[in-house]
Amino acid sequence: MKATALATALLAVTAPFAAAFPRTYGPIPAFKDSWVSVAPGESAKTHGTDLVLKASTEKFALLGFTLPSEVTQAPNRLLNCELTLPPFNTPVAPLNITMQVAVANAWDEVPVNGDNRPGVLGEEFTFYVEDTRMPIRIDATEQCKIAAAKGTGFSLYIASPKAPYEFKSRETGMGATLVATAEVRA
Ligand SMILES: *[C@@H]1O[C@H](CO)[C@@H](O)[C@H](O)[C@H]1NC(C)=O
Repeated sequence: MKATALATALLAVTAPFAAAFPRTYGPIPAFKDSWVSVAPGESAKTHGTDLVLKASTEKFALLGFTLPSEVTQAPNRLLNCELTLPPFNTPVAPLNITMQVAVANAWDEVPVNGDNRPGVLGEEFTFYVEDTRMPIRIDATEQCKIAAAKGTGFSLYIASPKAPYEFKSRETGMGATLVATAEVRA
């Protein structure tokens, strides 16, 4: 009892002076993914087990990640989140893709469709992709912070305001991944 109290007291004294250092988590693969369509006649269809994810003006890829608890316990210590999308199945000319955080993380990839899809949260982000034949590394720090402030789930829509495109889903074993870096204390 005394030893525990002493240890706790020591910890309380030393903790503020403990070194903070960046720690990287991942690559964390998406544990669920799908795409949904909002086109008339298409919105009830489900695509959770498809080998491809589709994005266009009316099709949205939806990715679901679990953030490390170390990150969500202190979202203000999140330094960086990098999302990597696989190369597009058919290369397209340089384009802007758009992303938006999904408000709910409870969706399941099997039943999710254009009718029951989760809503969106916060701003739409645009990311310019120069070469769609290479893995696409996207700074998703702001989106991660929005999600981390709410819990461990991070769900993200990927869309395309112009050219339609497709990329591999997690079912291929080569789907989207996330790397998170947070400041932790020794
Ligand atoms: C991407 O978006 C930027 C900023 O809105 C714009 O200036 C640029 O022309 C766009 N590029 C393409 C290829 O659409």
